[in-house]
Amino acid sequence: MNMPRLYGDFASWWPVLSSPEDYAEDAAFYRKTIIAACRSKPQTLLELGSGGGNNASHLKAFFTMTLVDPSPGMLNVSRSLNPECEHIQGDMRNIRLGRLFDAVFIEDAISYMTTKDDLQRAIQTAFVHCRSGGAALFCPDYTSETFRSSTRHGGHDVVGRGMRYLEWDWDPDPTDTTYITDFAYLLRDEKGEVRCEHDRHVLGLFRCEDWLRLITEVGFQARIIQPQDRESESETPLFLGIRENL
Ligand SMILES: C[S@@+](CC[C@H](N)C(=O)[O-])C[C@H]1O[C@@H](n2cnc3c(N)ncnc32)[C@H](O)[C@@H]1O
Repeated sequence: MNMPRLYGDFASWWPVLSSPEDYAEDAAFYRKTIIAACRSKPQTLLELGSGGGNNASHLKAFFTMTLVDPSPGMLNVSRSLNPECEHIQGDMRNIRLGRLFDAVFIEDAISYMTTKDDLQRAIQTAFVHCRSGGAALFCPDYTSETFRSSTRHGGHDVVGRGMRYLEWDWDPDPTDTTYITDFAYLLRDEKGEVRCEHDRHVLGLFRCEDWLRLITEVGFQARIIQPQDRESESETPLFLGIRENL
């Protein structure tokens, strides 16, 4: 797996790049959406690609959470933030835990699926871990229809360290299923020294109709949540897979 540096050498910088508070509003929407999509109130939630556990820090008050991520560094960050959650190292394309959850959640990590085959495998993983009457929620950063080249910046100061980043989304080939996010990180260490690092993330872009088809093909009933139905600046829809009662 070709992992961005952010999830390797720089994983300990994750809480400086991104803080749990940044996730509070979206996490509240995800919680309501997951609960509304399940036939009965879900108790257990599997999150695939849980990263530094920022969403989980809000969701864990409502669900018993199992968090899966391939990056040992990101799992360590999440363990510090969410010691009460179960953490497991694994890849959303092939992990098989041999148990069922009331609901499955994949937020921005789903954007690391860059081919239809990988996206189908991740959705299949969600399906095989989802109980009948449960649901899976998928939250891509963009679809093919909503992608546009853009830049953002952010970062935080914590005790002894600080970080600022510039994030640049661009698409060298609009006919394929990927786009690029180039990050420039300014990392300030305990001695006050600042260094600049580049990190390239290759991310996936799929049409809404492909999302809905893949979700349906694995056995879910597919639903789309349009951006106007959520209080968010994002123009990208979310996707639900409902696992019907057998
Ligand atoms: C932006 S971070 C997720 C942050 C997370 N939403 C949170 O609440 O903190 C993206 C994560 O996707 C994970 N990831 C990338 N490829 C993956 C894969 N094939 N399976 C599971 N997770 C993956 C990375 O290791 C990284 O931790």
